[in-house]
Amino acid sequence: MSVEPSLEGLREEALAALASASNEAGLEQWRITFFGRQEGRMTALLRSIKDRPVDERASFGANANRLKQELEGALEAKQQDLKDAALKALSTDSAIDVTLPGRPQVLGRLHPVTQTMRDCLKAFGDMGFRVAEGPEVEWDRYNFDGVRIPEDHPARDMWDTIWVNTLIEGKRHMLLRTHTSPNQVRVLERTPAPPVRVVVPGKCYRQEATDATHEWMLTQIEGLAVDQGVRMTDLKGVLYEWSRQMFGSDRKIIFHHSYFPFVEPGVEMAIDCFICRGDGRACHTCHGTGWIEILGAGMVHPEIIETAGYDSSRVTGFAFGLGVERVALLRWGIEDIRNFYANDVRFLQQF
Ligand code: DAH
Repeated sequence: MSVEPSLEGLREEALAALASASNEAGLEQWRITFFGRQEGRMTALLRSIKDRPVDERASFGANANRLKQELEGALEAKQQDLKDAALKALSTDSAIDVTLPGRPQVLGRLHPVTQTMRDCLKAFGDMGFRVAEGPEVEWDRYNFDGVRIPEDHPARDMWDTIWVNTLIEGKRHMLLRTHTSPNQVRVLERTPAPPVRVVVPGKCYRQEATDATHEWMLTQIEGLAVDQGVRMTDLKGVLYEWSRQMFGSDRKIIFHHSYFPFVEPGVEMAIDCFICRGDGRACHTCHGTGWIEILGAGMVHPEIIETAGYDSSRVTGFAFGLGVERVALLRWGIEDIRNFYANDVRFLQQF
């Protein structure tokens, strides 16, 4: 067998195999087949140079080395080709298609309870009330004792309290506040002298069986105004102005006597039913009474004024507490309070 055709045969075979390799793994296989250190066919060919008859050895060796270089060069070129192809695929596959319509940005909005809260705070703010805040995890001495609800008082059961399971000297003292009223005490405690004029918004928690008008989490705004000569008529004026801002300028309000341990006298305020305008005996909102109960209020109990270190013979005050969800329900005619926290955007987008 002559030398040249065998080199040429290997060359053709190697180049054909290289051409058909289509990926990294194929190239590696090719490299092993022809250049593998033990069994590679090119390697074997080079190793066989020394066995050639002396007169052929020089030219065969030169040709074999030329072939080796050619094949190595072909491998490198093929590697580069594969890299280029991969890059090109990447840039065409993931290229930005400027003819596609853009994806719309979804715009969020304020939750209806937040909107209502802000509108309330604005109304009170315009009347000179400052906003303060207090903790949602509260001590029983603020949530209950400080607002004259002692341990054996039935009012503790009125709000089925969610306690925090930490015992202090064998008893639970921490809870998720059941109302914002503890902030009456907190605010007075840190205010060395009157006047005090604050509204305290925040979430409150009660162990409620939920229904259309009750949730286990509710948002309240506590109001407190304490100064020399604050009277019940001031309370009425402030709440009247607030209700006009929230429900319209033709609102009427009425006060009924009620009991809350931290005020004396205590009242419940109702506004005239703007749903049925007082003539619908079947009205779900006012139950045919023509009045919608909307909040609790009263004159701050003198004991609380005294505990703050003020002289209750000169200093008086009023307080009120309103449920923001309830205001939002009325304002938009929403029928079920549970909608607020069901997280259904179809509901929330309407406000
Ligand atoms: N804290 C009461 C509740 O959650 C609401 C309340 C009533 C607050 C009368 C007051 C008030 O400040 O004077 O039911």
